Amino acid sequence: MRLMRIFSGIQPSGDAHIGNYSGGFRQYAATQEQGEAFFCIVDLHAITIDHDPAALQEGTLDIAAMLFATGIDPDRATVFVQSHVTAHTEATWLLSSVASHGQLGRMTQFKEKSAEESFISAALFTYPVLMASDILLYRTDIVPIGDDQRQHLELTRDIAQRFNSRYGETLVVPKGVYPETGGRVMNLQEPAVKMSKSRGAESGTVLMLDPPETIRKKLKTAVTDSGNEVRHDPEEKPGISNLIELMTVVTGDSIKDVESRYDGKGYGDFKSDVADAIVELLTPIQPRYHELRQDPAELFRLLAVGAEKARAESEPTLTKMYEGMGFARP
Ligand code: TRP
Repeated sequence: MRLMRIFSGIQPSGDAHIGNYSGGFRQYAATQEQGEAFFCIVDLHAITIDHDPAALQEGTLDIAAMLFATGIDPDRATVFVQSHVTAHTEATWLLSSVASHGQLGRMTQFKEKSAEESFISAALFTYPVLMASDILLYRTDIVPIGDDQRQHLELTRDIAQRFNSRYGETLVVPKGVYPETGGRVMNLQEPAVKMSKSRGAESGTVLMLDPPETIRKKLKTAVTDSGNEVRHDPEEKPGISNLIELMTVVTGDSIKDVESRYDGKGYGDFKSDVADAIVELLTPIQPRYHELRQDPAELFRLLAVGAEKARAESEPTLTKMYEGMGFARP
């Protein structure tokens, strides 16, 4: 029987934080157990908005090191860089002929990002077609992905279905898997703002590479709400509820477990325990990260192995696409 095929794409931006861990790295390490997993560092997507050429390679290697450090096993899963596998750009051209211009223009992410940019590139508009190519080339069944990518995943499904109905059954129509509640970690200083490296107070973002003292300080100064009761109630208590969710992300315990463990204890004890739990989580990850990150030759070697596997998997799908569309093949 064919194993379940899992695919996800990760932006090569540096400075990963605990919100990325919650919605990303944690899921990736877990999903590699469920089938054949492909994790693609999407450097081609990074150029759709203004980007810094000097930072692109660094960001790519940062993310690669973080994926391996957080538990992706290169023997089990395939980790590769999008631009190393040329099938992605080729498939994007083919699929852009079955992607609807009107539907691309209705993508919320395109509308939001184009409102922020002074130069709106054509690549920002076709971004979702490249994403569809990533997914469809691997005959993907399951895409673990953030809630904000739902519309892009639906577009991918539409593209696959349209391709199949025009040119015959060729592409697998994938399903999105979205994180359950708790996947969304908010800024510790501004619990209404999602934790991010570009938005919200810096002191409210816990970085994967923060030293223990910094983590303890950030937790100590995290905003809490009136009262002193550790109870999950995002409406009334957005600050403490975020810390409870953070605790569940880091330890794997349920919200109920956390609430009952802190029944009768106050915010102070709880905050310092959340800090300890984060430090404990990161203690093995950080040295693994630094060791790999200081060895670019080894990272490039691992990524070359990944690219080789990715090419072998994607080429047959690309060939079928060309054939189905009626191209004279060499
Ligand atoms: N657009 C996704 C994001 O911003 C990243 C991405 C690119 C992706 N290609 C993908 C995610 C394929 C899943 C599958 O998060």
